[in-house]
Amino acid sequence: MKQPDTAAGSIGIFDSGYGGLTILRQIRQYLPQYDYIYLGDNARAPYGPRSFEVVYDYTLQAVEALFQRGCRLVILACNTASAKALRTIQEKDLHRWNDGRRVLGVIRPTVEALGDITRSRHVGLLATPGTVGSRSYEMEIQKLYGDIALTAVACPMWVALVEYGEFDSPGADYFIKKRIETVLRKDPEVDTLILGCTHFPLLMEKINKYTPPGVRLVSQGEYVAKSLVAYLDRHEAMRMGCTTGGTCRYLTTESVATFAATASIFLHKQVGNVERIEL
Ligand code: DGL
Repeated sequence: MKQPDTAAGSIGIFDSGYGGLTILRQIRQYLPQYDYIYLGDNARAPYGPRSFEVVYDYTLQAVEALFQRGCRLVILACNTASAKALRTIQEKDLHRWNDGRRVLGVIRPTVEALGDITRSRHVGLLATPGTVGSRSYEMEIQKLYGDIALTAVACPMWVALVEYGEFDSPGADYFIKKRIETVLRKDPEVDTLILGCTHFPLLMEKINKYTPPGVRLVSQGEYVAKSLVAYLDRHEAMRMGCTTGGTCRYLTTESVATFAATASIFLHKQVGNVERIEL
């Protein structure tokens, strides 16, 4: 397929590392016609343990890099960045472009979906320490569903298991079982578990293994993709500005070879068209 010369008109998808590829894959299933440019700040991942200031700085640099390449719409396919940087970027930075560019996150679409999923109205959240500490899920849930109680548990090792290719190892079983059991011990009425980190779908086999029957897992890709479909339906100018070549390019702050090899595992196909950038 012919690649556009610039990313002008491409939808930008950003994550600290490889996890956002799980969101990209689902978005491309729902909206295959558009051009995409994925940026992984792999050299500086994980963001989970970093402070608000640092996650905000790094995320803003990434958004600017995508804007400079011509993206008008950027999805923060990262809960940590959505939790710690999205609102500030929307409120303080977007106006500098003053031309209708938008940055969207993954937390709101996930929370919106909960209303129809949980019956007990007791929901668990598994996420990075950064996302849990930000209390962003609690705040969004409070705004939309005052009757839902959230029990959030940080999973500090899970992103590392993914980033370092340990998702299939016996060590992964230990950490995954431990965190799922912690949520269900804290609130035995939980019937819905949010996988609030875009890396976690890569651990799905083991997460399924330790999740009791009757507890529903909410993986974000599908909800973020459906929400983007609805957003583009509602925003004609944005939709008309998105180019439709069906292409995807990749930017990474790590080496091209490392990114291509790891991303290929996550996407279950060879990944070409990768460029290394500095932020
Ligand atoms: N994939 C990211 C998220 O959804 C975060 C991982 C990280 O860099 O800690 O939270």
